[in-house]
Amino acid sequence: MSTPETSIHGEWSSRLAFILAATGSAVGLGNIWRFPYITGEYGGGAFVIVYLLCIALIGLPVMMAEVLLGKRGRSSPINSMRILAQEAKRTRWWQALGWAGVVAGFLILSFYSIIAGWALAYIPRVASGMFTVVNDLSTTKEVADFVGARFGDLVGDPLRLLAWHTAFMIVTITMVAGGVQGGLERAVRWMMPALFIVLLVLVGYAMSTPKFMDGVHFMFDVDFHKLFYPKGEFSGEGVLVAMGQAFFSLSLGMGAIMVYGAYLPKHASIAQTTTAVVVADTFIAILAGLIIFPIVFSNGLEPGGGAGLVFKILPIAFGQMPFGSVMGTLFFVLLALAAWSSAISLIEPAVAWLVETGKFSRLSATIGCGVAAWLVGFATVFSFNIWSGVHPLSMFSAFKDKTLFNLIEYLTTNIMLPLGGLFIAIFVAWLMKRQIVAEELESSPESFGYRLWQFLLRYVTPLGVGLVFLNAIGVFS
Ligand code: PFF
Repeated sequence: MSTPETSIHGEWSSRLAFILAATGSAVGLGNIWRFPYITGEYGGGAFVIVYLLCIALIGLPVMMAEVLLGKRGRSSPINSMRILAQEAKRTRWWQALGWAGVVAGFLILSFYSIIAGWALAYIPRVASGMFTVVNDLSTTKEVADFVGARFGDLVGDPLRLLAWHTAFMIVTITMVAGGVQGGLERAVRWMMPALFIVLLVLVGYAMSTPKFMDGVHFMFDVDFHKLFYPKGEFSGEGVLVAMGQAFFSLSLGMGAIMVYGAYLPKHASIAQTTTAVVVADTFIAILAGLIIFPIVFSNGLEPGGGAGLVFKILPIAFGQMPFGSVMGTLFFVLLALAAWSSAISLIEPAVAWLVETGKFSRLSATIGCGVAAWLVGFATVFSFNIWSGVHPLSMFSAFKDKTLFNLIEYLTTNIMLPLGGLFIAIFVAWLMKRQIVAEELESSPESFGYRLWQFLLRYVTPLGVGLVFLNAIGVFS
């Protein structure tokens, strides 16, 4: 049985186009919103080290494996897994990996769209100079209170959140309906460099704040006690969250990178392209941390400020720095664009599958998926206001204070994505024919690089994910 030569959905115009699209998927709210907020909650340095180890030892090899599956299968993750399981003479059940990815994608998009909506909401706020008022306030506490209260106004109002969520989703649907070459490629090409430059300017501002070095120490001084005993008692959760963040930030474990791999030209090097994506993604997350934490400490705030952290911190900078309103507007526009280039990869697996069934046009498939994710998003919208006191799993101590949003974020990021990555690693490293794998990688199975990669996938990924899971449920405590 042979695998398809090309995907019916089209192909990237070049290797660079794939790198841009995959970077577009990887770089998003995960780097700028999520990385600083969870690094803050889990105490800094030790968390960052575990995150970086997960990126290098698990994330990069799994990303190569996931791209490889797509490139070989040339279809949506559901169909690629069906075709490849058949080719490897394994059970059809492997397509469940594709299905699980579709479910994870919907759930992630449902909350992703709300947070991206916050970024949209901040564009007119910053542009109108709302935060320049901070210059008239006399203490850092007043500044922090003012900016925090503006965030509170926004998330406390379900209708406003719903409106921005809807706006974000409509644009997402429009971009996905445009298809591989049209919608996705063009936007990312100039947006990534622009985002990078704005972040560098913001690092410059952070360096001018009085507590810049405190921020640097917070991020890089490794203290494992803080990671394992966040609230005085031992907990393996921090390591789980760091690993989950590695998967989330690299868009791994749910088929997004697999479906992009399906559009890769036949002779593009997987190792080089994925390394470029991983380096860019990690660099941007670190930059975001270097911006946020110095401002946190310089204003006497706590790094563990929760999901609103970035939105409560950056406006202080935009209020105070020269040309802050212009920079701030640019920043939130770029953040929204980065979120869009990630969001489109969250529904692409489902859309590609629907189109492959032959029953849907790309447009109707996209609208169907978008509306479904939009509806699930209501759970997150209300988690910040009328349901903020609803803790559905409060009977379990680990989930005591978690809202619906917290639970969806936890389940998808910390459980579903690493599990998806685990199965991808097992399938590619243990079940596929070596010669096929080597052919797709354009590498010799005897080379050092190949053997290292195979070792990481065969042993390090399954053991790593397994141990982190066991640790998180308290087996070693
Ligand atoms: N990697 C994206 C980010 O860091 O914002 C989020 C994401 C996109 C996660 C696509 C998973 C995914 F499949």
